[in-house]
Amino acid sequence: MDYEAVMKLALERGFYFPSCEVYADAQAGFWEYGPSGVSLKNKFLELWRRELIRRDEMLEIDGSQIMSKSVFEASGHLSNFADPIIKCIKCNSTFRADRTIADIAKIEIPESAGLEEFDNAISQNNIKCPKCKGDFEKTKKFNMMFRVGIGPEEEEAYLRPETCQSIFVDFPRLFKTMRGKLPLGIAQVGKSFRNEIAPRQSLLRLREFYQAEIEIFCNPSKLDDMDKFSEIQDTIIRVQTDAEPVSMSCKEAVESGIIPNKFVAYYLGILTEFYEKTGIDITKSRFRKLDDKEKAFYAEVAFDFEVETIIGWLELVACNYRSDYDLSNHAKKSTAKFEVMDNDEKVLPHIFEISMGIDRSLYTILEHSLRDDKEHERIVLSLKPYLSPVHVGVLSLVKKDGLKEKTDEIYLQIKRKCDAFLDHSGAIGRRYRRLDEVGSPFAITVDHQTLEDETVTIRKRDSMEQSRIKISDLDSTISESIAFP
Ligand code: GLY
Repeated sequence: MDYEAVMKLALERGFYFPSCEVYADAQAGFWEYGPSGVSLKNKFLELWRRELIRRDEMLEIDGSQIMSKSVFEASGHLSNFADPIIKCIKCNSTFRADRTIADIAKIEIPESAGLEEFDNAISQNNIKCPKCKGDFEKTKKFNMMFRVGIGPEEEEAYLRPETCQSIFVDFPRLFKTMRGKLPLGIAQVGKSFRNEIAPRQSLLRLREFYQAEIEIFCNPSKLDDMDKFSEIQDTIIRVQTDAEPVSMSCKEAVESGIIPNKFVAYYLGILTEFYEKTGIDITKSRFRKLDDKEKAFYAEVAFDFEVETIIGWLELVACNYRSDYDLSNHAKKSTAKFEVMDNDEKVLPHIFEISMGIDRSLYTILEHSLRDDKEHERIVLSLKPYLSPVHVGVLSLVKKDGLKEKTDEIYLQIKRKCDAFLDHSGAIGRRYRRLDEVGSPFAITVDHQTLEDETVTIRKRDSMEQSRIKISDLDSTISESIAFP
């Protein structure tokens, strides 16, 4: 399967499609989720809540998308959150300097490198404008935040470029009112906004995108003091510090010093266990340690969780040890106190972050689940049943002889207990194919025998096996099979 096959499925089966597509001035980098995409996203997030938020007794908040200028002065985004860009002197087209150099000269320069490094690479490799072959102006920085004007005076504010800033500024209130104890995880799911120069590849580089971020506030002197480490010490993670990723247990990763402490290893372990349950092929994953040039400006140590896809390694999660960078900056700029008591010790907590890109994760789940079953001439989306947008298709073999009415009756019985899809029209084989493509693990078909003995045919997506089942057993069979693990 290739990238185009995933895109075709996404467009034709209601997963995602371009925003404002009926207008010629639709902007790149904005995509919508259709019904199948929303259903998959909701289930993915429910799994995230089970496997990370509830497992670790974290708090979840839902903050504002527009935040005041002070937040981003303190966070450093106003001065640091910028991409290197180059503008063509002749045709005025603008490009990202790092990407253009990588595409043309095959040289990787991190986006955080000094501006002269880009200028040198451009002149030494004689890089010209890809559109008109013109020369470039000197490299500049372009701040990627979207500015908004509040009220008639258009007071300066910004669409958040990462969801975590509200978690940081809300920390004093949450710690107090929720009677927090360190370590404390606070999470948020929501949209973030970045004015990307070159959005591309549908869900993979968006200007408006979903994040699921977890910020764990901890006492930096207790990073190896972690009882629950025993829960994941044997969990296998794949870590890359050199040329190739290596599989090792979390315990081995800490003992060998590859992961700096039990605290970080615990969260990399539970993150791996979560992704394994999404159906992503975990043997194609790695935690890649970033070097100083690649790390975000707020990170002291950073591991990207990346997964190999048709189009290369894709970063799904940034795991950043942000130290006290955020809380000390917000403490300096605001009037709030961010220090808290950890037993008898007063500490300014450090933060470890698990910043997940939801859209990229959903793309990867789709890609890793999609297969071309040539033998049976069908495309199958072998999603985990608990993530499938449709759990069961309810079909009448034909509409006549009372079969339509009987099918409607069964559909009514099950549609409030799972995601059922009713379909009366078209050849039965084609209806099965459509359900296979949307990932429905089951299809049930009502036929003439149903009217005689109250049984239906149940067809399994992956094996295409068909058997008969009593209508009275449908609820329990389906709910057992689609239950979260
Ligand atoms: N909060 C980290 C990120 O958005 O990448």
